[in-house]
Amino acid sequence: MIYLDNAATSWPKPDCVPEAMLRYLRDVGASPGRSGHRLALAAERIRLDARLALAELFGVSDPLRIVFMHNATTALNVVLHGLLPPGSHVITTGMEHNAVMRPLQALAQRGVTVTVVACHADGTLAPTVLDACIQPATRLIVATHASNVCGTVLPIREMSAIAKQRGIPLLVDAAQTAGGWPIDLRRDGIDLLAFSGHKGLLGPSGTGGLAINDAFDVKCLPPLLQGGTGSRSEHEEHPADLPDRYEPGTPNMPGIAGLAAAARYVLETGVARIRTHERMLTQRLIDGLRGIVGVRVHGTQDAGQQTAVVAFTLVGQSVSDVAQALDERFGVLCRPGLHCAPRAHRTLGTFPHGTLRFAPGLFTTLQEADTALAAVAELAETTSRG
Ligand code: ALA
Repeated sequence: MIYLDNAATSWPKPDCVPEAMLRYLRDVGASPGRSGHRLALAAERIRLDARLALAELFGVSDPLRIVFMHNATTALNVVLHGLLPPGSHVITTGMEHNAVMRPLQALAQRGVTVTVVACHADGTLAPTVLDACIQPATRLIVATHASNVCGTVLPIREMSAIAKQRGIPLLVDAAQTAGGWPIDLRRDGIDLLAFSGHKGLLGPSGTGGLAINDAFDVKCLPPLLQGGTGSRSEHEEHPADLPDRYEPGTPNMPGIAGLAAAARYVLETGVARIRTHERMLTQRLIDGLRGIVGVRVHGTQDAGQQTAVVAFTLVGQSVSDVAQALDERFGVLCRPGLHCAPRAHRTLGTFPHGTLRFAPGLFTTLQEADTALAAVAELAETTSRG
């Protein structure tokens, strides 16, 4: 079996991840912050280690500014609903996932105005187009770091420079980049970063959260949910301090234990090394697919400008039929269709039929990439022969 669906969920995980989850469940089990006994303290140490590792990965000095949530989608919802009152204006891009577009649609129903800046047909964006879109009511710019459809990376630093000049915060959806692409909130000028734990960070599903720049004042971002935190229990008002402000309820400790181990693994391996490996595989897949008659590759077709995601179609074939044949006949696992990102597919000109997506990962080998290419070549040849 060849797993090329790492952009949805990375797999396999490094052994340290399931081991840490099992250790937590078997030897600790308790919730952090709720009781003062030794097991609660052991759980708190695991959670703090996860915060410390992610703070180091994302260039955040205060580990309490790493807030855990179910996933990147929850983090995006917290920020979008928190920062955009009726009457406000928000700017986003033509490459967004529904994790951004659906909350924005819901907010539009409540009187928020949304401007979607157009991207080029390869998913790239000229950051200067942002300038003309900024209005007095603009409260936020929200952009994906990289497209989950074709991997194209957006010019976040340049976008941030424009946002900063006008005093507008920048929220970045790092679902596709966290762990596999260098991110530094300070250097990149990112105010708020929504991250998922189960993709490039190599952690378990159902983990993720929000990384908050040291300079961002959270007073302007009310929590979406309130509840028990184990702190300030004498008050019925939800605590204002971090991270409790955004972490009501019992946390997903098995997930956080796995994520802590995964983030340490990524730090030890090095994001630069992961990127080098994935870039090499991505270029191999792009070049290989481009060489097959009847295959069309979408996006920049330059691994230097994209994450480990390659979008392609076979002329005259349905993407779901091809994905099924790849799975059943060749053991190659990938994701076809619209990838929960119809807006991005419209930009690429691949709506409504969608694309196939090969998404290699840290554990994908060159030989596996070549085997997948040979499978596509065989399927393409079948069609051209009719
Ligand atoms: N957004 C994830 C993907 O692209 C789930 O597959």
